[in-house]
Amino acid sequence: LQYFFSAKALAGKKLLITAGPTFEAIDPVRGITNLSSGKMGFAIARAAQAAGAEVTLVAGPVHLPTPRGVRRIDVQSAQEMLQAVLASVEGADVFVATAAVADWRPAHAADQKIKKDGSGEVPQLAFVENPDILATVAQLPRAKSGDLYCVGFAAESENLLANAQAKRLRKQIPLLVGNIGPATFGKDDNALLLVDEQGHQELPHASKAALGEQLVTEIAKRIVR
Ligand code: CTP
Ligand code: CA
Repeated sequence: LQYFFSAKALAGKKLLITAGPTFEAIDPVRGITNLSSGKMGFAIARAAQAAGAEVTLVAGPVHLPTPRGVRRIDVQSAQEMLQAVLASVEGADVFVATAAVADWRPAHAADQKIKKDGSGEVPQLAFVENPDILATVAQLPRAKSGDLYCVGFAAESENLLANAQAKRLRKQIPLLVGNIGPATFGKDDNALLLVDEQGHQELPHASKAALGEQLVTEIAKRIVR
């Protein structure tokens, strides 16, 4: 009974979350992607929903069940992810970008499967840069005024704190979360480094489910004023 009446940390708040990798087509049967599992983003979605938020989860190609009560939009490419995010961001209070968005996509996706022509020649792929979804959202007027709180993630292979601080400033977001330790992709556990205007703070090694709950608590502290 006490639980039933306890005030939920994110009651009445709307969260929008990106998760997983993106898939950038080369031709109808091939493409470029990465090893992101989507587990951290799905854990945050589940925790936010449990904390009373209305949650929309924009997911790249992942093999994970939709958390109960969460609205899920499946996408493939970074461009589709951006469109889905922009279509859902109105009225959101928090945007959490956990997706491992492909930084580049093939400049031209072939309409038909690319065939070997027998000459031994290999296709030459040209790339173009994908839109930066987080940076785009962070520039929206509601984000700049502080009504939409933006949270970024960063997987760095070196100098985590310095790179995370620099990335937070470059993307102009209030909170940047770094993955501590190598190769978090696909694992069920992690450790996180939170970098904001006040400084930095570690969430020690734990399951992604537990870290999702802790991060939701930290976000709630920062937005509920
Ligand atoms: N991000 C995004 N759209 C992109 C690239 C990144 O929304 N096209 C978001 C990620 O979801 C993450 C944050 O930006 O929250 C940082 O992503 P990361 O790959 O670490 O940074 P980049 O700016 O792409 O820089 P780099 O990969 O060169 O370190
Ligand atoms: Ca990147």
